[in-house]
Amino acid sequence: MKAHDFLTIRDITKEEMHETFAIARDMKADRSKYAEALKGKSLALIFEKPSLRTRTSFDIGIQQLGGFSLYLSPNEISLGKRESVYDVAKNLERMVQGVMIRTFAHQIVIDFAKHASIPVINGLTDYSHPCQAMADFLTILEKKKKLEGLKVAYVGDGNNVAHSLMFAGARLGVHVSVVCPPDFEPNAVAMQQAVEDAKATGAVIEIVHDPVAGVKNADVIYTDTWASMGQESEAEARKKIFHPYQVNAALMSHAKSDALFMHCLPAHRGDEVTDEVIDSKQSVVFDEAENRLHVQKAIMYQLMKNVK
Ligand code: CP
Ligand code: NVA
Repeated sequence: MKAHDFLTIRDITKEEMHETFAIARDMKADRSKYAEALKGKSLALIFEKPSLRTRTSFDIGIQQLGGFSLYLSPNEISLGKRESVYDVAKNLERMVQGVMIRTFAHQIVIDFAKHASIPVINGLTDYSHPCQAMADFLTILEKKKKLEGLKVAYVGDGNNVAHSLMFAGARLGVHVSVVCPPDFEPNAVAMQQAVEDAKATGAVIEIVHDPVAGVKNADVIYTDTWASMGQESEAEARKKIFHPYQVNAALMSHAKSDALFMHCLPAHRGDEVTDEVIDSKQSVVFDEAENRLHVQKAIMYQLMKNVK
């Protein structure tokens, strides 16, 4: 990986994505092989939003590589409020060898990375969730034994997770249909970038408003919460708008018969997905969660191994 930081999927090439999947699979097969890979190195985990998977996977992941983590909660740092992003970066680079940040504005991770000499990993912003997309495509690769030419139908809000899936699909040659209500499309610039990137691989990255048409021929149906962290006040209003986009058995029946069901979690059962789907044999949601651990270990290893 040539990149110094991992802020978006667009920071890495298709080849680097595949290399990361290969390292992750190697780590998954034998944890003991990498037990000293980041011996004595420390990773700060800055969380300005809640988390189960991201916190657990980074915390356990760095320990499995021989390093340490430091959890900094939403009440502690208040990036840009209690102290400037610049000052936090300049302090932490003196003490730790890497930083993972989960925050609101994507600009915060860009600014942090600009000022810090140590690698910065995006653990979710309002704009993107690249570690999630890496775990998701690793999961698809494991289950389908290939990526190129597959179709992922992302059904729901054109949010951070949708953006990262679009960027990853574009790089890897996987078609991504974002199936969403009007006015909840992905960010226009993100869409433009994904379509541009997809020219190199032939992936079709598109927006579809009709749920049944959007999932046709899909190898994967993916959904996420209708109201992301920070949008809690819109949750009730969004329930009505998004109801036709619920992933239930009827919608699944319009995809390929062996389609996978995916969700980054946390899921709101009965809203964006029904129990019958998330608990079905087609569901791989816990494989995705587990792969967060393996793929992020591969990312930390590549970014932090040469940091003194
Ligand atoms: N998928 C995901 O990022 O989960 P958490 O919000 O629990 O970290
Ligand atoms: N779109 C969701 C993803 C949670 C992992 C959010 O930002 O809350």
